[in-house]
Formats: sequence, structure tokens, C-alpha cells
Amino acid sequence: MKKIRQPIIAVLGHVDHGKTTMLDRIRNTRVAEKEAGGITQHIGATEVPIEVVKQLAGPLLSLWKGEIKLPGLLFIDTPGHEAFTSLRARGGSLADLAILVVDINEGFQPQTIESIEILRKYRTPFVVAANKIDRIKGWKIVENEPFLVNIKKQDQRAVQELETKLWELIGKFYELGFQANRFDRVQDFRRELAIIPVSAKYGIGLPELLVLIAGLAQKYLEEKLKIEVEGPARGTILEVREEVGFGTTIDVIIYDGTLRKDDIIVVGGKDKAIVTKIRALLKPKPLDEIRDPRYRFDQVEEVSAAAGIKIAAPNLEEALAGSPVIAARTEEEIERAKREILEQIKSVIISTDKVGVIVKADTIGSLEALSKELQEKNIPIRKADVGNISKTDVMEALSVKEEEPLYGVVIGFNVKVNEDAEEVAKAKKIPIFVGNVIYKIIEDYEAWVKAEEE
Ligand code: GTP
Ligand code: NA
Ligand code: MG
Repeated sequence: MKKIRQPIIAVLGHVDHGKTTMLDRIRNTRVAEKEAGGITQHIGATEVPIEVVKQLAGPLLSLWKGEIKLPGLLFIDTPGHEAFTSLRARGGSLADLAILVVDINEGFQPQTIESIEILRKYRTPFVVAANKIDRIKGWKIVENEPFLVNIKKQDQRAVQELETKLWELIGKFYELGFQANRFDRVQDFRRELAIIPVSAKYGIGLPELLVLIAGLAQKYLEEKLKIEVEGPARGTILEVREEVGFGTTIDVIIYDGTLRKDDIIVVGGKDKAIVTKIRALLKPKPLDEIRDPRYRFDQVEEVSAAAGIKIAAPNLEEALAGSPVIAARTEEEIERAKREILEQIKSVIISTDKVGVIVKADTIGSLEALSKELQEKNIPIRKADVGNISKTDVMEALSVKEEEPLYGVVIGFNVKVNEDAEEVAKAKKIPIFVGNVIYKIIEDYEAWVKAEEE
């Protein structure tokens, strides 16, 4: 039986720009109203039923002609801190749609730009929530109301300040190659980025944001969201974590099919596919905090896409965050899943004797994001692997240097440089570019190349 699943919506943006507050506000409104059939909290994700969207949206829903067939929206919160690029990248690659949250008073910040790069890389459509408009001087707060209701209550000065700040944002997007506009001035949502001025704290503009997201998903993603609900589940590992009483567990977003407690799952390990039997499917209690390690879980028998779930199973110690999870019910399905996963790992962990740079990263997700970025810039890769930078990496870069000095470098994301590697690099003059903001590492490398060429 086919059904339309909830679109997976990643919330991305710079640290403290209001991502979690926005999701909290959407949840709280619901709790405050004490309606039946509340919001479900998944691992790393919040499910908002379509009735809630409809309620919050009110009369705005008529903006979208026709009936909304989506069962709801599944939001993934991601951390804005720079150390979490790989989690952001996983959120971004998993998402059908995204909300980029930008504090309108602070404008673009490093993780704003990184989020945009991630969305661009994975071709994820997104809208922009220009947050904290309540901080605009003289703004009169009309809580829980649409932006278009709020704007009518403001005096000329506040309106002007908002417009100025919006223009600054639009200009920044333009520099990055995006045509952006205030949502109510957008002509064609396929070509223009919609900016919704919001206040997550006071619930301003959230009705429009929800309607826009639901409408865009329904209009442009309906085919993609149609899934065979009974089929074996497919998902992506968000995080691999120890859980008291359960050992190593994986937090997974399921985007297709149904996962049952007695399923076999195949997941990616560093250089192998791990086949294991599920011990427990664990679901946090409704409204529990996302990454709070103290939540008490409910054990469930099965879960259908789209959903976030913690899976306890043996032999997950070497599972890789960012790798696929495929459920299998027959020998044949297991073999097929193993082949598919090995192929995917091989497409990210590269080992060649080409003339190219050496790439290292902390997880397979961040390695994929970094490699993609390099490939897009036509920078050839000789080797890409997970782990700290070792002496072997530097020696390989040295052998590349003899053929092409500009590629005789090691590029690392969120990894350490081993002591002996550092020594050899110094002695042999092999540059090492490390950091925890992908685009900055690449900028550093490009600046070095430019300097070398002059
Ligand atoms: P990270 O997860 O750390 O990246 O941050 P975040 O983007 O989830 O931001 P968070 O929701 O934690 O909010 C950061 C701070 O901004 C908190 O003190 C919020 O209360 C405040 N904040 C969020 N939204 C608004 C808003 O609309 N208006 C005002 N005035 N403050 C806000
Ligand atoms: Na924060
Ligand atoms: Mg947060």
C-alpha cells in the first residue's frame, strides 16, 4: 500500500539564531492548547501532525488551493555550533526540505554560510526564517499571529528597519547566487528563495512558515514522498551512542518503509557492512528534549517512515554516523543490502594512486561533505578516509608533491594531527589544512594555492 509520508524538514543555521526555540514554540503552542493527538517526539526529530499545522495556519491555509494530503511534518533540529558540521550535513542530506534560520539582527554568520553550502550540495530546497524580529526597535508584538497581521500594527520606523534588514539579507543571498525575496513578494517559489520574517520567541510568522513549508512539500515533493509503507525500512544514522542498559545504539531517521522489532538490519561500518538483529526499538516520550541523555524510552514493536528512532542491537560499535540503514527480511535482501552499503562506503572512502590531495575527516558524513566540496571545485582527491592525520597521510602527500606541488597537501576536517605526522610535515614542508568549518578549510587551501602560484 502506498502512502504519502511526512516530509523531513531540517532546521539549520548559526548557533543561537533560534532553531530550537522555533520548534519549541511550535510544540508548546500545541501543548498549551491541550488538543488531542499531540506532537510526537522522535530521536532528533519532532513530528507535527497536519491538524496542528492547519490550526496554527488558520485562514492562511487557503493560500494553498486544494487539499493538503500530507500526514504532517517531521522536523530535524540540528546544532549550530561549528563543531557539529557533520551532524548538520547529515541533517541537510536527509532532508526533503529545510528551514534556514537567520537572526535578522546578526545577519549571515559562518554557520549560516556553511548551512547554505550544505543545502546547495545536496540540492535541498529551503525557505529562510528571518528570526527575532521582535528585537527590531519599536516592534509591537502581536503574539502567535501571522507576520502579515503584525506588520499592519507597526509604525513607519519599525517597518523601515525591517525592510532595511531584509534587504541586507537579500543582498547576501544574491552574493551567493540566490534570488531571495520576502515570501509575500515571491512570484515563483521554484526560482526564488522565500524569506519569512518571524519571532520564534513570540510565535510571530510561524503560521506562514508552516503553511509555506507544507504547501511547498505538497506541491513539489508529492511524488518523492509516496512510499511503500509495508516495505523494509531504509534510513540514515544520525548518531552512534552509548545508552545505559543498551550498550551502543544508533539514532536513525527512517525515510522509507516500516521497521519491525524482529527485522535484521544492515548498516555501514568503516570498511564493512554490519549485519545485526534488532534488540529494541526505542522511542523517547512525547516532548522529551532531543539530545538529553536522561530520557526514558518507550519500547515499540514497529515504526513507519518518516520517523526518528533509537535502535539497540549487538555489534554497532563500529557503525558509522551518516551511513545508511537497510532492513532485510530474507537472505537475498541481506546480501543486496550489504552490496549496496559497501558500494556507498566505497564511494566516500577513496583510495587511489592519482595525483590529488589527501582528505581526512571525523565521520563518513563529514568526509562525504568535504569531498563533495573539493570535487565541485575540481580539486582531485588521491585518498579520502575517516580518522586523524597520520604520518602515512603526510608521506603520501609528499609523493604527490613530487609530481604536482599544489596537490601535495593534507586537508582535514575535525581531526587531530598525530605528533609524528606533524614532525614529518614540518621537515618535508607539506602543508596541512585543518579546521572545523568546511568552507573555511577550503578557502585556506585556495589562498595558499594562489600565493604559491604568484
Ligand atoms: P543552537 O542549537 O545552540 O545552535 O542554538 P539555536 O539556534 O537552537 O538557538 P536557541 O533556540 O537555543 O535560541 C538562542 C537564544 O535566542 C535563546 O536565548 C532564545 O531565547 C533566544 N531567541 C530565540 N528566538 C528568539 C526570538 O524570536 N526573539 C528573541 N528576542 N529571542 C529569541
Ligand atoms: Na543555543
Ligand atoms: Mg538548538
